[in-house]
Amino acid sequence: MRIAFDGVTLAFGRLVVFDGLTVEFSSGRSTAIVGSNGAGKSTLLKLAGQFTEPDAGSVKAFDGATELLRADFRKRLAMVSPTMSLYARLTGEENLKFFAGLRGVGIDDVGGLFERVGLASGDGKKFVGEYSTGMAQRLKLAILLSTGADVWLLDEPGANLDEAGRSMVLSEIERAAGEGKLILLATNDPIEASAADERLSLTR
Ligand SMILES: Nc1ncnc2c1ncn2[C@@H]1O[C@H](COP(=O)(O)OP(=O)(O)OP(=O)(O)O)[C@@H](O)[C@H]1O
Ligand SMILES: [Mg+2]
Repeated sequence: MRIAFDGVTLAFGRLVVFDGLTVEFSSGRSTAIVGSNGAGKSTLLKLAGQFTEPDAGSVKAFDGATELLRADFRKRLAMVSPTMSLYARLTGEENLKFFAGLRGVGIDDVGGLFERVGLASGDGKKFVGEYSTGMAQRLKLAILLSTGADVWLLDEPGANLDEAGRSMVLSEIERAAGEGKLILLATNDPIEASAADERLSLTR
């Protein structure tokens, strides 16, 4: 799998966020997207997932030499972002099953996934509205892991996590890259940035 940005230009009104960006990301590697607030990190992830279109240039996903149609590419990617919301009035387990179900994935081992992201087994029966921000972030990561996606777009994956949570994120990223996944992570955390295989620095 490969995501290729070719001459990507994108502006919001008079604010030019990207001006001819050409870069490629491939499977088996994690790339940290770094840069100050407003530099365009989250926007780059949205472009990579084809959730936003460039004004000029292109963003294409390839499997070998074959360009993937957006719908096929979408089935193979998963995104975690601060703007993604969970259902407050469903339990953690219900949220997990719902989001996995949207992708046609059945979850046999809820307990195993919860443990992997550092949630207690009893947390699955709690309403997400009663979760702390860090617990909700961990649940988003459990949903990501449940999908089996080949491409991970992580917007500030360590946000609101304690030290153990941040190191869990780093080891999941490392493991996923080792399994051949393509990982992009937007981050303001220097530890997260330096743990990635590569860094792309955006300037305003
Ligand atoms: N939908 C939009 N409409 C108008 N402007 C936007 C939109 N999305 C992003 N921007 C602008 O584009 C720039 C880049 O935003 P982006 O969210 O990508 O930054 P970021 O690097 O992720 O910042 P942060 O570190 O704060 O998360 C910002 O100036 C932002 O205001
Ligand atoms: Mg951002």
